[in-house]
Amino acid sequence: MGEPAFPAGFLWGTSTSAHQVEGGNENNDWSEWEKQPGRIRDGTTSAEACRWWNGSAEEDLATAASLGQNAHRLSIEWSRLEPEPGRWDDAAFARYLRLLAEMRRLGISAMVTLHHVTLPRWVAARGGWLARDIVSLFARYAEECIRRLGGSVDHWVTINEPASVAGAAYVSRYWPPALGSVRAGLRALGAMLEAHAAAYGAMKRVHPAASVGIVLSTPRFEPARTGSRMDTLICAAQDWVFIGSLLRALRTGTLLPPLAGPARPPGLRRSLDFLGANYYGQYAVRFDPLLHERLFGRHVQEPTVRAGECDWGQISPEGLTRQLVRLSAMEVPLYVTENGIHDAADAIRPAFLTDHVAAVHEAIRRGADVRGYFHWSLLDNFEWAEGWQPRFGLIEVDPVTQKRTLRSSAHLYARICGSNGATASGRERGSQGSP
Ligand code: FCB
Repeated sequence: MGEPAFPAGFLWGTSTSAHQVEGGNENNDWSEWEKQPGRIRDGTTSAEACRWWNGSAEEDLATAASLGQNAHRLSIEWSRLEPEPGRWDDAAFARYLRLLAEMRRLGISAMVTLHHVTLPRWVAARGGWLARDIVSLFARYAEECIRRLGGSVDHWVTINEPASVAGAAYVSRYWPPALGSVRAGLRALGAMLEAHAAAYGAMKRVHPAASVGIVLSTPRFEPARTGSRMDTLICAAQDWVFIGSLLRALRTGTLLPPLAGPARPPGLRRSLDFLGANYYGQYAVRFDPLLHERLFGRHVQEPTVRAGECDWGQISPEGLTRQLVRLSAMEVPLYVTENGIHDAADAIRPAFLTDHVAAVHEAIRRGADVRGYFHWSLLDNFEWAEGWQPRFGLIEVDPVTQKRTLRSSAHLYARICGSNGATASGRERGSQGSP
């Protein structure tokens, strides 16, 4: 291929999250919610999901290993591990320990997320991220997890996409608790940063050498109309609330407006050993004076593939390069912790995949310290309020029969992993044009 490969030891993997793949999660805030009519666009529920809790995780990860993947990012389910306040479930910890041991045996490095969207019912009943004691509850949970699982985990993520949770669950009514309040959203976001810092401190006290980070959603925002002052202003405001203010808080330890919470949460400054970036695409932002809950900015790009009303932006590999270069200012190693596209037919994914891996390579060439790429997702799974309609998997899953079928992108990604990225920046790239 002759093209430059990625740095030695680069992690090539995929991402999943507990509620989306495990099945049988009946004790978190999504279990009731997803059964209420109208909540999930296609009327499905997570139900058995991909049956990971009952053994399929090991089989699917064996497939991942056979496809050359050397890492996987998964999340663990707080509601299983602490089903009631202060009561730890030994059997649930044992289940995760077995899975992590199998991953080690398969040569798959483990990145484990503590909070990926769901909260135990009892936490939700106290107010979720608005509960008075949420910071100490989350830190206690994090500490218990690192005590019990620490030896089997390579990288820990405290919280996945805090701004998305604040936006979807507290500002809008898309996810539970569906508060529909900007104020609540900003308080929840501040609380998540505070909880992240507290968890980081607690975990490092147990295992000072542990690698602990946070994952942010890092879409690229662009003004819809070049030359429009209002579009430019609103675009900058959205970027600030969604990404900029969080980076600033993590770097300096200070919560600047509009983030709500203590001005300087204890331990927040530099509370990360790495930063994870979830990147799906780019949004074109157009000023809209009526759209208060979206900070007066409407996203007007044509979605690449429609999934109900939800779209993950417009395809822009260059946006990923630019975001990674921007994130280098944090001066910690970076991981692309999610990147993917819903494309059941696998028509667009091959080009998407090679172009985004090439974009990561370009970011490294421009000086970004990127250490891994995790595609979303290893397999089709329950996509939150969109249900089973969006298909993000390298592996197709029939949720009824549980049959797995490898999409051709799974083989393409295997070639990328096997060549340490060389094929994505080399000849194959040119032959994978968009349909
Ligand atoms: C991300 C979520 C992940 C998945 C993808 C498609 O924002 O973190 O759980 O739903 O979107």
